[in-house]
Amino acid sequence: MADKRIFSGIKPTGDLTLGSYIGAIKNWVELQNDYDCLYCIVDMHAITIRNDPEVLHRRTLEQLAQYIASGLDPKKNIVYIQSHVAQHAELSWILGCYSMMGELNRMTQFKDMSRKHSDNLNAGIFTYPVLMAADILLYQSDLVPVGEDQKQHVELARNIAVRFNGVYGDVFKLPEPFIPKVGARIRSLTDPTSKMSKSDEDPQGSVYIMDSPDAIMKKFKRAKTDSLGCVRFDPDEQPGISNLMTIYSSVTGRSFDEITAEFEGKGYGVFKPAVAEAVIETLRPIREESERLLSDRSQLAEVYRDGARRAAEIAEDTLNLVRGKIGFVGK
Ligand code: TYM
Repeated sequence: MADKRIFSGIKPTGDLTLGSYIGAIKNWVELQNDYDCLYCIVDMHAITIRNDPEVLHRRTLEQLAQYIASGLDPKKNIVYIQSHVAQHAELSWILGCYSMMGELNRMTQFKDMSRKHSDNLNAGIFTYPVLMAADILLYQSDLVPVGEDQKQHVELARNIAVRFNGVYGDVFKLPEPFIPKVGARIRSLTDPTSKMSKSDEDPQGSVYIMDSPDAIMKKFKRAKTDSLGCVRFDPDEQPGISNLMTIYSSVTGRSFDEITAEFEGKGYGVFKPAVAEAVIETLRPIREESERLLSDRSQLAEVYRDGARRAAEIAEDTLNLVRGKIGFVGK
């Protein structure tokens, strides 16, 4: 088994988008051959906002199916559901006592969420990065593959680990964020100044993994562009086109120069459907395989049970070490 460990997760707060796929899952699939990986459905992170319980339940299983359908092999990786491994919550409490109010206050996502959810500004929204630090540190992770928006949280996990190690010696490995070179921030198709998000109120801005080919084509045809008429990578002057180029590059593997040459003199009427086609062909097998997997719940249950068992073994080793270091009496 490879000796470097990877941990990452996605919270089931919305149906997975092309942003989740390009910014996270696609890279996880590439990393699974070279690292010892844990890929989690972080359902405990999802409850900082109010969910319909039935929807959360459905999304959690759908997300598991989508991980596997995207190519994550549950034998090679540990694929599981966060709430099945109670050690996450226990370590989160402990690390909370080594996290400072000031540093949590500085988290950009906390500031955004406080604005968006001022009607339900619960303590979970504030301590959320501590739970994320626990997720990562519990498994002595070396690398955490995430999109750009999660980099600050991974850095915080590292800072908490440094602080804890400073008191008790080398308990935690120091994790590093692992950000893709292209596709770390896929933007909304209707508003290329903001990120494509699973919780976006405007479903036209996001492409969902489970969208039909027709819906995907329509969304790309309506994507916001500009009046310059050339396919060129320039995020300041042409944010919409640059976003479409990033998507096209991520799913075809072509460079920005190659894409510019391919669409030289062709206009957006040709470019947009070409991006849509490439995305449709990338997502089609994932959608079809997800649907197949979802039709056999017992197979999914086998995957998450086996994943939770394997994850808990590693988690318990770390927690035992932590408990002993801080002076808790062993059972
Ligand atoms: P979440 O669920 O918001 O997003 C999951 C992953 O997808 C990436 N991502 C994107 N990347 C590029 N463009 C986009 N438009 C886009 N949208 C989402 C995110 O950067 C992320 O990598 N707090 C985390 C979940 C989490 C976690 C963890 C991640 C909990 N514990 C431990 C890593 C390790 C979150 O809310 O991600």
